[in-house]
Amino acid sequence: MVQHLHARLVCSSCKGELAQSDTSLQCHRCLATYLIENRYVSMLDRREQVDRPSDWNRKEGEIRDYSEISNSLALSGIGRFATFLNYGYVSTGNEQHAVIEPDDVWNRNSVKLLLEVVGRTTVREQEVIDIGCGRGGNIAALHKYFKPLSIVGLDICPANIAYCSAKPRLTESFYLVGDAENIPFADESFDVVLNMESAHAYPNRTRFYEEVYRIMRYGGVFLYTELMLEEEVVQNVRLLEEAGLTVIRNQDVTSNVLLSCDENAKQRTGAQGIANNANASTTIGDIHDFIALPGSKKYEEMKAGTRQYRMMNLVKR
Ligand SMILES: C[S@@+](CC[C@H](N)C(=O)[O-])C[C@H]1O[C@@H](n2cnc3c(N)ncnc32)[C@H](O)[C@@H]1O
Repeated sequence: MVQHLHARLVCSSCKGELAQSDTSLQCHRCLATYLIENRYVSMLDRREQVDRPSDWNRKEGEIRDYSEISNSLALSGIGRFATFLNYGYVSTGNEQHAVIEPDDVWNRNSVKLLLEVVGRTTVREQEVIDIGCGRGGNIAALHKYFKPLSIVGLDICPANIAYCSAKPRLTESFYLVGDAENIPFADESFDVVLNMESAHAYPNRTRFYEEVYRIMRYGGVFLYTELMLEEEVVQNVRLLEEAGLTVIRNQDVTSNVLLSCDENAKQRTGAQGIANNANASTTIGDIHDFIALPGSKKYEEMKAGTRQYRMMNLVKR
């Protein structure tokens, strides 16, 4: 696996070339060392703990929360099917971009969310990276519906990457532990960059957008979904444009996402659901808000329009 990726894999911090031994990768330039675990590589540069401790603390919080979720799902018995960690999408009368109607029974709303953000974008035969890939559901669906040339899944939480790596491997997918703000790939490595419901957790959004621009090829597309406060929408568009990207679609799909949250509520509070008291994680502050259950702050803000679910397509020209 490492051999296959090696040509494009670089040091997360300084983007220098890497030398590989049996157990690690080491940067020629800055000497950062990355461990090769049993089935995947961890490309996190732990020096951030010292250099930017408050950013690192936030990232550690994410790792802890998603490890808890991973454990809860494993205990609940539905872990095998729980391959998505997003709110999903239900069609309403508003403008639709998906060109495929999914035949999935499991996770149908999440597959619809993906097909909506992809729209008419060419994914077939393209090189794709899913940043904040979670439990790999988007990657499996991209393979099923679009047949890309290859997909890399990058996520900061080792439990998520271990889960993705343990599933029967699609030969064209590779999973890495890594940070969206320090992407361990050479410039212009990908045609399509996907990022769904993950960027809210990044302490430095500017750095993330600059990294996305750097790893995209000219003509490449950035498929992006995120829940944002109303006033953050303009601010994010400005940061994306300052990073060099051109917005070609910026759609408010909050009403579609709210309908999906309503449908998810039954399942997620049910006997095997993540918000059932017996399964609920201990360290995630408010699990109801985390998954936007009706009545939670996040859900009610979406309903009032002060928080918007944005779906964006951007290009590098
Ligand atoms: C709400 S989940 C969404 C997962 C997936 N995109 C999906 O649609 O199912 C957010 C994901 O972002 C990951 N994440 C958070 N901070 C990250 C970072 N700095 N770099 C990479 N991944 C990160 C989390 O570990 C988690 O898997």
